[in-house]
Amino acid sequence: MSKITRRDVICSGLGLSASSLIARSAWARTTALLAGSEEAGSPEARVAVAPREKLLFDFGWKFQFGHGSDPTRDLGFGTGQGDFAKTGDFKFAKAGFDDSKWRALNLPHDWAVELPFVRDEELNSHGFKPLGRRYPETSVGWYRREFEIPAVDLGRRISVEFDGAFRSVLVFVNGCFIGRNDNGYAPFQFDLTDFLSYGAKNYIVMRVDASFGDGWFYEGAGIYRHLWLTKTDALHLGNWDSTVRATLDDNSAKLALGTVVENQGKQEENAKVSWQILDESGKTVATAESAAQSVAVDGSATFTVTANLANPALWSVDEPHLYSAIVTVVTDGKKRDAEQVNFGVRSVKFDADKGFFLNGKSLKIQGTCNHQDHAGVGAAVPDRMQWFRLGVLKEMGCNAVRTSHNMPTPEWVEACDRMGMMMMCETRQMSSNPEGMAQLETMVKRYRNSPSIIIWSIGNEEWLLQSAMAEQGAKIGAAMVQRCHELDPTRVVSAAVNGDNKQGVSDAFDIIGFNYGLNLPDGYHKLNPARPIYGSETSSAISTRGEYITNPLRNTVNAYDSVVRWGETAEEWWKFYGTREWAAGGFAWTGFDYRGEPTPYGWPSINSQFGIVDMCGFPKDTFYYYKAWWGREPSLHLFPHWNFEGREGDEIPVWVYSNMEEVELLMNGKTQGKQKVPHLGHVEWKVRYEPGSIEARGFKGGKVTLTEKHETTGPAVAIRLTADRTEINADGEDLAVVKVEALDKEGRAVPTANNLIGFHVSGAGVLIGVGNGDPNCQESDKEPRRSLYNGLAQVILQATKRSGEIRIEAVKEGWDGPELTPAKLTITTKAGLRSEV
Ligand code: GAL
Repeated sequence: MSKITRRDVICSGLGLSASSLIARSAWARTTALLAGSEEAGSPEARVAVAPREKLLFDFGWKFQFGHGSDPTRDLGFGTGQGDFAKTGDFKFAKAGFDDSKWRALNLPHDWAVELPFVRDEELNSHGFKPLGRRYPETSVGWYRREFEIPAVDLGRRISVEFDGAFRSVLVFVNGCFIGRNDNGYAPFQFDLTDFLSYGAKNYIVMRVDASFGDGWFYEGAGIYRHLWLTKTDALHLGNWDSTVRATLDDNSAKLALGTVVENQGKQEENAKVSWQILDESGKTVATAESAAQSVAVDGSATFTVTANLANPALWSVDEPHLYSAIVTVVTDGKKRDAEQVNFGVRSVKFDADKGFFLNGKSLKIQGTCNHQDHAGVGAAVPDRMQWFRLGVLKEMGCNAVRTSHNMPTPEWVEACDRMGMMMMCETRQMSSNPEGMAQLETMVKRYRNSPSIIIWSIGNEEWLLQSAMAEQGAKIGAAMVQRCHELDPTRVVSAAVNGDNKQGVSDAFDIIGFNYGLNLPDGYHKLNPARPIYGSETSSAISTRGEYITNPLRNTVNAYDSVVRWGETAEEWWKFYGTREWAAGGFAWTGFDYRGEPTPYGWPSINSQFGIVDMCGFPKDTFYYYKAWWGREPSLHLFPHWNFEGREGDEIPVWVYSNMEEVELLMNGKTQGKQKVPHLGHVEWKVRYEPGSIEARGFKGGKVTLTEKHETTGPAVAIRLTADRTEINADGEDLAVVKVEALDKEGRAVPTANNLIGFHVSGAGVLIGVGNGDPNCQESDKEPRRSLYNGLAQVILQATKRSGEIRIEAVKEGWDGPELTPAKLTITTKAGLRSEV
């Protein structure tokens, strides 16, 4: 039984120390994070300013499977004997209910990733996990927790907030039914104030039913995002009602500041709102105060003011400067509620002739679409992993992500704001029905202050609304676009359309997105010269990391930029969107591999092969195509590796992705010829394989500027572990992402190694997942062992809340193959600052 132990440090004092968290320039901090030298995570999302409290509610839960069809195996819930008949009657959410045999766990939690794979063709697109109405035993989960609410909280408003859960959630507190939510991605919350016992224990239970899916990809199951308990005064700011809109005008920015104050107290209030604008160093750079207004009991009032920011530091992909506004509600000189809203100052323009502009400068959108799951953890992606994933994408020059096909978790949006990654933010349900509109409104209200978001997307590939039901589509599209504009007049609205965009939903869009179909945009542009165009989804190139032969017997796809029937190679789509002045750029399908959609194969493949990086974030070769043409650094990548034992004399295609002028290839020191690198292309040779070495030399201005060499390695004799960071927070959440490799006796990484490695983890951390990027690997994501796949595996270590050392030892497992010298690694964890219930 835990009490509210610590308040966020930010809640004490003046509520301004939040700024110390962003004491350095955002870009410096981002770079430091990527380099692993600074504390990670993104605490700003959690910032509540006194007297408000926002407490992490993730720790200390009990979990048990229920049942989708048998009430006797579902806590007796659903017998049809008046389950919802009387308020306060749900015994499982009261004292005395015995959950001692339930499993103890912390949130975020995805139970789908823990399930075995099941060969059932209908589960193909969801990653072969037994979820759905045909799998009632594994489709319903119950979460239960006790918590204490102090007597002093009486009179405050207390809500439970979900960042998102999969999928249908029923919430019960102290025997009372509180509410339900029926989608897998939108944040939601319930006011618990009337149902709580003050100065006493309380009981909360959630029944989560993943029998129905939202998408055609792996979606996870359970409370897979953060849970919070928020406490405010009865006179409080409206939920997600505070907006900061910055308009750039020469060297200053005009800030339009707005919010709503709601009065749930017992008397009318005379309230003022003040805004304090802080820069990254925590310095107050502007202030504003509204006139007082009376707020009636059960009523609300809207407050708006303006302020000026002289010489603002702009938000951009290279320098993502952020500001924050501390919004405070005051009555009679007393602070009643406050929150911190982070925002950026930047201008965004989509021009039908000239493409996209950020802060007045032309910039191509070099984007990738991404689902939200990662190796080892499924959909329950810890905050630090969001940073890790964005770091991988940034490394290849990606400057924008599309959150296909659902709204993201706040921590992903925040990481994009802080790391300088633009976003196309997409809602799940394209519909003007109440649920569709509610999802859309939540998305826009929740994220509209985030500078990273440049496009709202109302959906993806709604075939019928684009064709047979175009008439309805036009109305639905118009209603959704209009609602976006009302809630956020500053951003364009679009959707990802697979089709000609000539009718249906597209009529209402501010900018036109094409999914695939490179034969369409030119004609559309001619006919509609005033409408800006971008590639909302492109490519769908496929490859298996480290494979150089397409083998349908092994479900592998070679690395030489292969593609599905409806797709385009990396080179094809980027040569298209990257060279047309009027095109804003586009979003490749996909940055990361994801579970489900194991195209072009089926079982035993359990994840997609569309990724430019694999499920762990290990680059496939195409990564370097993008790095060469999207990045700004000199770059050269040679592939394949040079370990083709048994294929001596075979012709091997050798490719180089590079932005050098010319590249020369050498095998065992003998030149194989020099070639000019075509703009946005690659160079290739066919070489008869001899063991030894292969080397590429990149020339610029006639001089060798970059080289890369692959040597034929010997067999693996040792293991190597490398962590992305060796010092992390002891906050129960932070991570170290460990790369596992096998080395030959010369210390060279063996690119074909597939040894099974076991991991012993002890000390101040736990192993929360493993992966290897193999789309056909059905080993457990959770067991402390994993085969290397083409030389690589990943272990995700999470800190406990006790500071100390996490020790990991990697040893060879299984009987096959030679012995491997074990490897050891130590991660230090230090006390962190988090508030929790
Ligand atoms: C698109 C779709 C994506 C994914 C992709 C695979 O049509 O929008 O979700 O299925 O195809 O190529």
